[in-house]
Amino acid sequence: MSSRITVPDFIKYKERGEKIAMLTAYDATFARLLDQVCIDAVLVGDSLGMVIQGKENTLGVTLEDIIYHTTHVGRHLKRALLISDMPFMSYQASSEEALKNAGRLLKEAGAQAVKLEGGEEVCESIYRMVKAGIPVMGHLGLTPQSYHQFGGFKAQGKTESAQKKLMSDAVALEEAGCFSIVFESIPFELAKTATQKLHIPTIGIGAGPYCDGQVLVIYDLLGLDARFNPKFLKKYAQGESIICESVGQYVREVKEKKFPTEEHSF
Ligand code: KIV
Repeated sequence: MSSRITVPDFIKYKERGEKIAMLTAYDATFARLLDQVCIDAVLVGDSLGMVIQGKENTLGVTLEDIIYHTTHVGRHLKRALLISDMPFMSYQASSEEALKNAGRLLKEAGAQAVKLEGGEEVCESIYRMVKAGIPVMGHLGLTPQSYHQFGGFKAQGKTESAQKKLMSDAVALEEAGCFSIVFESIPFELAKTATQKLHIPTIGIGAGPYCDGQVLVIYDLLGLDARFNPKFLKKYAQGESIICESVGQYVREVKEKKFPTEEHSF
């Protein structure tokens, strides 16, 4: 296994035109598997509120939840850059609180960087974090923590004024010291223009092919929910049917007294 990927490596990827492959993970098993296939970065995303906790959106996720899952992911991640999401209301109230909470993610959970949502309004906090040695990834476009403000999970950056705002927010995030920015559910032309303008790498999800990297929720990539089929998603497996077939067969074999046999005994 090659050496650990660091924040400065992210900039080098962009300079050499090499795409960054990033995924979410929430536990040690997936962390081990993703490292095995040389994923560049692992995000302990607040998407865990939905895929792990079964909630409607990410708003209920706590800092303690993120610390808990980051600790377990970090235990088996040897190569990929480990990034922790800052959950809703862990950074919005004041830059003081934001700094302390980001610090906890590095100090207690072992994250190498944090990610937070928003533009100009979060720049003071980002500036303070970066000054304290905490690398920050930004997140623009469909920012899920603004779920109620957006009226659901809706693509962003459609109007001219929204596009201008996203561009100026992206530049502000870079100037505040972000080492990378996630663009979620925005038109690909906008993501392309912003990617060309910025010196830091952009990571897309529903943002087209021209970002410097790509991120997906691991459960989505594996097709663990057959009902979830957004336009941006490519499923690399039909996980729901694989699991249901396997577990269904187990249930049948237990009921039919086919498993366990003496072969599986001591
Ligand atoms: O929480 C998350 O998983 C995310 C990614 C999808 C970007 O923010």
